[in-house]
Amino acid sequence: MVVKVCSAVPRGVEALPVRVEVEAHHGLPGLVVVGLPDAAVRESRERVVSAIRQLGATLESKSLVVNLSPAEERKEGTLLDLAIAVGVLASTGFVPSKGMGNLWLLGELSLDGQLRPVRGVLPIVEAATKHQAKVILPAENLPEAAVVKGAEVLGVSHLKEVVALIRGDGAGSWTKPEQASWWQPEQSRELDLADVAGQSHAKRALEVAAAGGHHLFFIGPPGSGKTMLAQRLPGILPPLSEEEALETTKVYSVAPLAPRPQGLLSVRPFRSPHHTISAAGLVGGGPYPRPGEVSLAHNGVLFLDELTEFRRDVLEVLRQPLESGCVVIARAAGSLRFPARFQLVAAANPCPCGFLGDPKRLCRCSPQAIARYRSRLSGPLLDRIDLHLTVHPVRFSELFTQGRGESSRAVRERVVAAREAQKRRLAGTGRTTNAQLTPEEVKRFCSPDGQGQKLLEAAMERLGLSARAIHRVLKVARTIADLDGSESVKAVHVAEALAYREQAMPA
Ligand SMILES: Nc1ncnc2c1ncn2[C@@H]1O[C@H](COP(=O)(O)OP(=O)(O)OP(=O)(O)O)[C@@H](O)[C@H]1O
Ligand SMILES: [Mg+2]
Ligand SMILES: [Zn+2]
Repeated sequence: MVVKVCSAVPRGVEALPVRVEVEAHHGLPGLVVVGLPDAAVRESRERVVSAIRQLGATLESKSLVVNLSPAEERKEGTLLDLAIAVGVLASTGFVPSKGMGNLWLLGELSLDGQLRPVRGVLPIVEAATKHQAKVILPAENLPEAAVVKGAEVLGVSHLKEVVALIRGDGAGSWTKPEQASWWQPEQSRELDLADVAGQSHAKRALEVAAAGGHHLFFIGPPGSGKTMLAQRLPGILPPLSEEEALETTKVYSVAPLAPRPQGLLSVRPFRSPHHTISAAGLVGGGPYPRPGEVSLAHNGVLFLDELTEFRRDVLEVLRQPLESGCVVIARAAGSLRFPARFQLVAAANPCPCGFLGDPKRLCRCSPQAIARYRSRLSGPLLDRIDLHLTVHPVRFSELFTQGRGESSRAVRERVVAAREAQKRRLAGTGRTTNAQLTPEEVKRFCSPDGQGQKLLEAAMERLGLSARAIHRVLKVARTIADLDGSESVKAVHVAEALAYREQAMPA
């Protein structure tokens, strides 16, 4: 007789349903697992056998073969422990094998039979619900499962509870969420733009970046407030839509190191990886591919502070996600993708000592040292950043004599209004911001008036701008016009957009 139990493992931000088939033979007693990588098999078998022994069940006289299908896919063993254990128990008659067709089992077992939380619960429960199946999972994963409307889930903490449930004498209660719950992770504590004194130019650039979804690069001396400003970008972005929240929460669900979701993410993520990060850490990967920082920043902000300190080859891998909004990881059994539509904010000093271009302090760097420093930044990466802004040191008078500046909330209102205009213009395209306009749409929506055309032409000559650079300038000009409530792109809008292009690093 073959017993079949349903389970699943994460695959990207989706679920891969896995069927656990257990066959009992006459023959040499033992438990053989096929369909997992070697090391995972050994560990999983050990946990399952030990947990089963805790129940007083005996496997001594049986020869059992556990087959995990689809066999060609590399599977993470730990998630399947519970399904394997129940399959084994059913094949030996310890629990009935009937009625498990519409039940998915998830969870890692400890040696004493406790259930440990696993990753990827959100997409797995979503898939189970589509298959009209119920899910038994570790109690600690319950808040995350409760995000899926209409899911029938039951949280358990020990294998013996599962045995009781399947025998029909368990008293566990099924939850069926009607509505998703929302949560705020630790990092969300509100940082207000009002705390930043002066810096009106930098704040304006931050607002333009937020309004159009443009990438932004702050260049300035130490202590001028670059980090402070960048951290305040999420606070002026429009609130997450439910759809965006679901997409991003799924990324957190499958990432084992991120905080385990306690519901739908309610604030846009802000990720600021250290400059020692590896390429895999940034874009994801590994034997069971996990999302990287660019995906954890999906629908939010990726902040690369001290941009020149990052390894060049690490920055290079950003190009694909910047271009396509996702990361594709090639595997033997087909490729998988993680979403990675993030807004990039970068910050750097203009030179190794930081004071190049400073009106008061003297830069002591040699021309060679400056050239070496600059060469760490890749041209193609900088080229994909629409707004470059020089941040000057804040003046004493601004720091102490002026009142608090405008609040993040007030700025956010203007950003939301500008985004509404963009959404209307792009209705039906699946895209929502000026940063995402196609070359065709740039022509249609961003053509400036006569004066603006002249400005652009002159700048093209003077700065030697490429056609691509011109398109980027026009997208930013469109955003500035949207903040201005203007249907047409005028010369003033073009002039401001050009200024953000010209402020590359001071010579
Ligand atoms: N405009 C400002 N308003 C109020 N405080 C400021 C401002 N600029 C800097 N500060 C103060 O200086 C500290 C350092 O600022 P911040 O870390 O943002 O500078 P930075 O430009 O990122 O410097 P670095 O190049 O060294 O990273 C802040 O924590 C804050 O206390
Ligand atoms: Mg800083
Ligand atoms: Zn210097």
